[in-house]
Amino acid sequence: MNLRLATLDDAASIWDVHVNAIRVLCASDYTPRQITAWLEPKKPSDYHRPISEQRIFVAEFSGCLAGFGEFGTKEIHAIYVHPRFARRKVGTLLFHRLIAELGSRGVLRISLDASLTSVPFYLALGCTAGEAVTHCLRSGVEILCIQMIFELSETPVRQPFSGTRFP
Ligand SMILES: CC(C)(COP(=O)(O)OP(=O)(O)OC[C@H]1O[C@@H](n2cnc3c(N)ncnc32)[C@H](O)[C@@H]1OP(=O)(O)O)[C@@H](O)C(=O)NCCC(=O)NCCS
Repeated sequence: MNLRLATLDDAASIWDVHVNAIRVLCASDYTPRQITAWLEPKKPSDYHRPISEQRIFVAEFSGCLAGFGEFGTKEIHAIYVHPRFARRKVGTLLFHRLIAELGSRGVLRISLDASLTSVPFYLALGCTAGEAVTHCLRSGVEILCIQMIFELSETPVRQPFSGTRFP
């Protein structure tokens, strides 16, 4: 497993991971109408700006893009894992990388809005759940998310991944 900053050449693969994660993994928590409204407007060029700003990390395995994570000034914007790689700690690896990045910039209280699908994941990683929030998508369709906070101690974050769970 290789973790690195995304380049513009990754944009189409990031888009592919993003739409497949929503379409497959989030389908059990949102209606088909919500899923369609969520993924339909997405396009590879959406990622050009955050890639240029060095705010997207990608996880690669055997030349395949397994997941990506995007961070902002004080928050995690997104962590998405391709369904083929789900439950293999790709999300955990990305989470710790984003946390380390924000921590290195002095951010010790990191916020994010979790999809209902990702709540058990963020809780397992030590986040605290806050209020439910409704996001209005471009089409006007609403999706429910849960606000989460991760409190980073002054202790540097350890990279926990050993790589042994991959074939
Ligand atoms: C949420 C997501 C990023 C998790 O990535 P992942 O690589 O599959 O997660 P990990 O393998 O690192 O899981 C770490 C731990 O989180 C918890 N967890 C992860 N997915 C879970 C699930 N579906 N149900 C219950 N617990 C889960 C488990 O405790 C897991 O440890 P375990 O496998 O040893 O039991 C991924 O499922 C995803 O992309 N989901 C759809 C997109 C999404 O909602 N992204 C978040 C938007 S903010």
